[in-house]
Amino acid sequence: MKNNNKIIAANWKMNGSEELMKEFSQLTRSKHNDIIICPPFTLLDSAKTLLPNFIKIGAQNCSEEEKGAFTGEISASMLQEKSVSHVLIGHSERRRLFQETDDLIFKKVEAAIKSKLTPIVCIGETLSEKEANKTLQVLDSQITGSLAKIEPNKQVIVAYEPVWAIGTGLTPDENEIKETHLYIKTKLNQHFNTDIPILYGGSANSENCSQIISIDNVGGLLVGGASLKKHDFNAICNC
Ligand code: PGA
Repeated sequence: MKNNNKIIAANWKMNGSEELMKEFSQLTRSKHNDIIICPPFTLLDSAKTLLPNFIKIGAQNCSEEEKGAFTGEISASMLQEKSVSHVLIGHSERRRLFQETDDLIFKKVEAAIKSKLTPIVCIGETLSEKEANKTLQVLDSQITGSLAKIEPNKQVIVAYEPVWAIGTGLTPDENEIKETHLYIKTKLNQHFNTDIPILYGGSANSENCSQIISIDNVGGLLVGGASLKKHDFNAICNC
Protein backbone atom coordinates (compact mmCIF):
# COMPACT_ATOMS: atom_id res chain seq x y z
CA MET A 1 0.00 0.00 0.00
CA LYS A 2 2.91 2.33 0.69
CA ASN A 3 3.18 5.17 -1.83
CA ASN A 4 0.01 4.08 -3.62
CA ASN A 5 -2.83 6.49 -4.18
CA LYS A 6 -1.37 9.37 -2.27
CA ILE A 7 -3.27 12.64 -2.27
CA ILE A 8 -1.40 15.72 -3.49
CA ALA A 9 -3.32 18.92 -2.78
CA ALA A 10 -2.27 22.38 -3.94
CA ASN A 11 -3.21 25.42 -1.87
CA TRP A 12 -2.76 28.45 -4.09
CA LYS A 13 -3.90 30.81 -1.28
CA MET A 14 -4.54 34.35 -2.65
CA ASN A 15 -2.32 33.73 -5.68
CA GLY A 16 -2.71 32.62 -9.27
CA SER A 17 -4.18 33.92 -12.50
CA GLU A 18 -5.82 32.72 -15.71
CA GLU A 19 -2.30 32.55 -17.14
CA LEU A 20 -1.10 30.22 -14.40
CA MET A 21 -4.17 28.04 -14.84
CA LYS A 22 -3.34 27.77 -18.55
CA GLU A 23 0.16 26.62 -17.65
CA PHE A 24 -1.27 24.05 -15.26
CA SER A 25 -3.41 22.62 -18.06
CA GLN A 26 -0.19 20.87 -19.12
CA LEU A 27 0.27 18.93 -15.88
CA THR A 28 0.87 15.24 -16.44
CA ARG A 29 0.43 12.23 -14.19
CA SER A 30 2.52 9.12 -14.25
CA LYS A 31 1.68 7.81 -10.77
CA HIS A 32 -1.75 7.04 -9.43
CA ASN A 33 -1.73 9.92 -7.00
CA ASP A 34 -4.97 11.87 -6.53
CA ILE A 35 -4.35 15.49 -7.41
CA ILE A 36 -6.48 18.33 -6.03
CA ILE A 37 -5.91 22.00 -6.89
CA CYS A 38 -7.46 24.64 -4.63
CA PRO A 39 -7.30 28.00 -6.44
CA PRO A 40 -8.98 31.21 -5.27
CA PHE A 41 -12.78 31.25 -5.81
CA THR A 42 -12.46 33.50 -8.89
CA LEU A 43 -10.45 30.84 -10.75
CA LEU A 44 -12.80 27.90 -10.10
CA ASP A 45 -14.48 28.23 -13.50
CA SER A 46 -11.20 28.29 -15.40
CA ALA A 47 -9.94 25.38 -13.29
CA LYS A 48 -12.90 23.35 -14.52
CA THR A 49 -12.38 24.35 -18.15
CA LEU A 50 -8.60 24.22 -18.32
CA LEU A 51 -7.28 21.56 -15.96
CA PRO A 52 -6.87 17.98 -17.16
CA ASN A 53 -9.66 15.59 -16.07
CA PHE A 54 -7.53 13.71 -13.57
CA ILE A 55 -7.26 16.81 -11.40
CA LYS A 56 -9.97 17.44 -8.83
CA ILE A 57 -10.93 20.96 -7.88
CA GLY A 58 -10.96 22.22 -4.32
CA ALA A 59 -11.86 25.51 -2.64
CA GLN A 60 -9.94 27.14 0.21
CA ASN A 61 -12.86 27.90 2.52
CA CYS A 62 -16.64 27.82 2.74
CA SER A 63 -19.27 29.37 4.95
CA GLU A 64 -20.86 27.40 7.77
CA GLU A 65 -24.19 28.84 6.61
CA GLU A 66 -26.29 27.54 3.74
CA LYS A 67 -27.53 30.87 2.36
CA GLY A 68 -28.78 34.29 3.40
CA ALA A 69 -27.54 37.69 4.49
CA PHE A 70 -23.84 36.91 4.89
CA THR A 71 -22.14 39.46 2.66
CA GLY A 72 -18.95 38.20 1.11
CA GLU A 73 -19.46 34.55 2.07
CA ILE A 74 -19.71 31.52 -0.21
CA SER A 75 -21.64 28.41 0.78
CA ALA A 76 -20.64 24.80 0.29
CA SER A 77 -23.61 24.19 -2.02
CA MET A 78 -22.47 27.09 -4.25
CA LEU A 79 -19.07 25.43 -4.48
CA GLN A 80 -20.64 22.11 -5.31
CA GLU A 81 -22.41 23.75 -8.24
CA LYS A 82 -18.98 24.84 -9.51
CA SER A 83 -17.75 21.23 -9.72
CA VAL A 84 -15.74 21.58 -6.54
CA SER A 85 -15.21 18.23 -4.79
CA HIS A 86 -12.98 19.24 -1.86
CA VAL A 87 -12.65 22.22 0.46
CA LEU A 88 -9.87 23.25 2.82
CA ILE A 89 -11.26 24.05 6.24
CA GLY A 90 -9.52 25.60 9.23
CA HIS A 91 -6.20 26.37 7.54
CA SER A 92 -3.89 27.94 10.11
CA GLU A 93 -4.08 31.27 8.25
CA ARG A 94 -7.87 31.20 8.68
CA ARG A 95 -7.48 30.27 12.34
CA ARG A 96 -4.93 33.00 12.99
CA LEU A 97 -5.99 35.87 10.71
CA PHE A 98 -9.74 35.32 10.70
CA GLN A 99 -10.17 34.01 14.24
CA GLU A 100 -11.63 30.67 13.16
CA THR A 101 -12.22 28.45 16.18
CA ASP A 102 -12.57 24.67 16.33
CA ASP A 103 -16.28 25.13 16.90
CA LEU A 104 -16.67 27.19 13.72
CA ILE A 105 -14.48 24.73 11.84
CA PHE A 106 -16.74 21.89 12.97
CA LYS A 107 -19.77 23.78 11.58
CA LYS A 108 -17.97 24.34 8.26
CA VAL A 109 -17.03 20.66 8.07
CA GLU A 110 -20.68 19.75 8.62
CA ALA A 111 -21.81 22.22 5.94
CA ALA A 112 -19.26 20.81 3.47
CA ILE A 113 -20.32 17.22 4.08
CA LYS A 114 -23.98 18.15 3.71
CA SER A 115 -23.18 19.50 0.24
CA LYS A 116 -21.23 16.35 -0.64
CA LEU A 117 -17.83 18.03 -0.54
CA THR A 118 -14.88 16.31 1.11
CA PRO A 119 -13.44 18.62 3.75
CA ILE A 120 -9.66 18.80 4.17
CA VAL A 121 -9.40 19.83 7.80
CA CYS A 122 -6.12 21.49 8.76
CA ILE A 123 -4.58 21.09 12.20
CA GLY A 124 -1.15 21.84 13.62
CA GLU A 125 0.79 23.45 16.43
CA THR A 126 2.51 26.85 16.53
CA LEU A 127 6.19 27.22 17.32
CA SER A 128 5.54 28.26 20.91
CA GLU A 129 3.25 25.27 21.42
CA LYS A 130 5.94 22.99 19.99
CA GLU A 131 8.58 24.54 22.23
CA ALA A 132 6.34 24.02 25.24
CA ASN A 133 6.03 20.32 24.27
CA LYS A 134 2.33 20.76 23.65
CA THR A 135 2.14 19.45 20.08
CA LEU A 136 0.09 16.32 20.83
CA GLN A 137 -2.14 18.17 23.25
CA VAL A 138 -2.92 20.80 20.60
CA LEU A 139 -3.63 18.16 17.97
CA ASP A 140 -5.85 16.35 20.41
CA SER A 141 -7.95 19.38 21.18
CA GLN A 142 -8.16 20.48 17.52
CA ILE A 143 -9.34 17.01 16.46
CA THR A 144 -11.82 16.79 19.32
CA GLY A 145 -13.14 20.31 18.72
CA SER A 146 -13.47 20.15 14.95
CA LEU A 147 -14.20 16.49 14.20
CA ALA A 148 -15.53 14.55 17.18
CA LYS A 149 -19.14 15.44 16.49
CA ILE A 150 -18.98 14.38 12.83
CA GLU A 151 -20.75 11.10 12.10
CA PRO A 152 -18.17 8.28 12.19
CA ASN A 153 -19.02 6.99 8.72
CA LYS A 154 -18.29 10.30 6.94
CA GLN A 155 -15.29 10.80 4.68
CA VAL A 156 -12.93 13.59 5.60
CA ILE A 157 -9.26 14.28 4.98
CA VAL A 158 -7.01 15.72 7.69
CA ALA A 159 -3.93 17.83 6.91
CA TYR A 160 -1.28 18.05 9.60
CA GLU A 161 0.48 21.37 9.06
CA PRO A 162 2.85 22.55 11.79
CA VAL A 163 2.30 26.31 11.69
CA TRP A 164 6.03 26.99 12.08
CA ALA A 165 6.75 24.95 8.94
CA ILE A 166 4.34 26.83 6.67
CA GLY A 167 6.17 29.05 4.20
CA THR A 168 9.40 28.95 6.21
CA GLY A 169 11.45 26.28 4.44
CA LEU A 170 11.55 24.35 7.74
CA THR A 171 10.10 20.88 8.10
CA PRO A 172 9.86 18.51 11.07
CA ASP A 173 12.30 15.61 10.96
CA GLU A 174 11.18 12.16 9.91
CA ASN A 175 10.61 10.94 13.46
CA GLU A 176 8.52 13.96 14.34
CA ILE A 177 6.30 13.42 11.30
CA LYS A 178 6.06 9.73 12.13
CA GLU A 179 5.07 10.42 15.71
CA THR A 180 2.47 13.08 14.97
CA HIS A 181 0.87 11.16 12.11
CA LEU A 182 0.63 8.01 14.21
CA TYR A 183 -0.93 10.02 17.01
CA ILE A 184 -3.47 11.61 14.66
CA LYS A 185 -4.25 8.27 13.02
CA THR A 186 -4.85 6.56 16.38
CA LYS A 187 -7.08 9.38 17.54
CA LEU A 188 -9.09 9.40 14.29
CA ASN A 189 -9.45 5.61 14.36
CA GLN A 190 -11.08 5.85 17.76
CA HIS A 191 -13.87 7.88 16.21
CA PHE A 192 -14.21 7.22 12.50
CA ASN A 193 -14.94 3.88 10.93
CA THR A 194 -13.71 5.09 7.53
CA ASP A 195 -10.06 5.37 6.59
CA ILE A 196 -9.09 9.03 7.01
CA PRO A 197 -6.07 10.08 4.92
CA ILE A 198 -3.65 12.33 6.80
CA LEU A 199 -1.72 14.74 4.59
CA TYR A 200 1.47 16.48 5.65
CA GLY A 201 1.79 20.21 4.88
CA GLY A 202 4.46 22.85 5.57
CA SER A 203 7.34 23.60 3.17
CA ALA A 204 6.79 20.43 1.14
CA ASN A 205 8.59 20.74 -2.19
CA SER A 206 9.87 18.75 -5.15
CA GLU A 207 13.04 17.82 -3.26
CA ASN A 208 11.58 16.54 0.03
CA CYS A 209 8.27 15.14 -1.27
CA SER A 210 9.38 11.55 -1.93
CA GLN A 211 10.95 11.23 1.50
CA ILE A 212 7.99 12.75 3.38
CA ILE A 213 5.39 10.81 1.44
CA SER A 214 7.02 7.48 2.27
CA ILE A 215 6.79 8.05 6.06
CA ASP A 216 4.29 5.78 7.82
CA ASN A 217 0.74 7.14 7.93
CA VAL A 218 1.47 10.03 5.57
CA GLY A 219 -1.37 9.86 3.07
CA GLY A 220 -0.15 12.68 0.88
CA LEU A 221 0.85 16.33 0.88
CA LEU A 222 -0.75 19.75 1.10
CA VAL A 223 1.52 22.10 -0.81
CA GLY A 224 1.50 25.91 -0.72
CA GLY A 225 4.41 27.83 -2.25
CA ALA A 226 5.73 24.99 -4.41
CA SER A 227 2.28 24.39 -5.89
CA LEU A 228 2.47 27.70 -7.75
CA LYS A 229 5.31 26.59 -10.01
CA LYS A 230 4.23 24.22 -12.72
CA HIS A 231 7.51 22.38 -13.00
CA ASP A 232 7.84 21.87 -9.24
CA PHE A 233 4.22 20.90 -8.74
CA ASN A 234 4.37 18.45 -11.63
CA ALA A 235 7.36 16.80 -9.95
CA ILE A 236 5.50 16.64 -6.62
CA CYS A 237 2.43 15.12 -8.32
CA ASN A 238 4.67 12.35 -9.62
CA CYS A 239 6.82 11.76 -6.57
P1 PGA B 1 3.81 25.95 2.19
O1 PGA B 1 2.26 26.15 2.60
O2 PGA B 1 3.89 24.70 1.37
O3 PGA B 1 4.13 27.19 1.39
O4 PGA B 1 4.59 25.86 3.44
C1 PGA B 1 1.48 25.04 2.98
C2 PGA B 1 0.10 25.51 3.37
O5 PGA B 1 -0.04 26.62 3.90
O6 PGA B 1 -0.89 24.78 3.15
